[in-house]
Amino acid sequence: MDYETILVEKRDEVGVITLNRPKALNALNSVLLKELRHILSSFSVDDSIGAIVITGSEKAFAAGADIKEMQGLDFVDAYVGDFLGGWDEVAATRKPVIAAVSGFALGGGCELAMMCDFIIASDTAKFGQPEITLGVIPGMGGSQRLTRAVGKAKAMDLVLTGRMMDAAEAERAGLVSRIVPAANLMDEAVEAATRIASLSRASVLMAKESVNRSFEVPLSEGLRYERRSFQSLFATADQKEGMAAFVEKRKPAFRNR
Ligand code: HXC
Repeated sequence: MDYETILVEKRDEVGVITLNRPKALNALNSVLLKELRHILSSFSVDDSIGAIVITGSEKAFAAGADIKEMQGLDFVDAYVGDFLGGWDEVAATRKPVIAAVSGFALGGGCELAMMCDFIIASDTAKFGQPEITLGVIPGMGGSQRLTRAVGKAKAMDLVLTGRMMDAAEAERAGLVSRIVPAANLMDEAVEAATRIASLSRASVLMAKESVNRSFEVPLSEGLRYERRSFQSLFATADQKEGMAAFVEKRKPAFRNR
């Protein structure tokens, strides 16, 4: 498939997706969503890909859902057409996804970054949920994922005022895992993704599922889920290899078995 709104490349075992609507600061329109879903589902079944990086431009990761595309919607269009519903599929990607964020990550842009497993931000990044200034509210998880990430006080502040926070504030608040100089952003993100891709695939997928489970279920169920997953990994050759390599003081050679 030829893509109109994204660029796609493979860097060894890492799939890199670059949002590419520069004239609209990577505003997320329906074509972009369709293309993103397509490439993510193709990466999901591609055994040569172990992790994914989603990035934008230096000026904008994404400045939100495309306001020009959605301004004419009415309730029936939005509700019956399940407007924004397709983003759940992006969030459900099983392989690890890192957001490499430079510049604006606003509204749907911030929400897309939060659908990823963690966010590496450049020192120029700015995050916000400005939907309230447009007469709506976040619709792709901003009121839910942001609150889980930064807590009620900061989430209410951002969602109710629509103000932006810079990278330093986002890191202090727990939204961002690390901040790097803008020039190093992609190197850092691809390096992190490469490391993840080099590890045992089954343990990586289970680790992601297990952390995500903590947002869905009570602690006792989450602990049980984690323990069962941990125990089941003893059925893999990679567990034998990982532990043997430690004991023998060598690097493990995982085979994804
Ligand atoms: C459509 C957008 C856009 C958007 C920017 N553009 N953001 N187009 N949807 N979300 C377009 C502008 O119209 C302009 O096009 C071009 O990108 C450059 O933008 P400027 O405003 O000229 O750039 P600048 O002055 O640098 O300001 C950057 C900005 C501003 C602060 C990021 O663009 C901005 O406030 N954008 C909107 C941010 C926002 O409200 N996001 C939330 C969207 S709602 P032209 O053709 O004029 O040159 C959302 C809802 C999620 O995400 C789901 C719930 C419904």
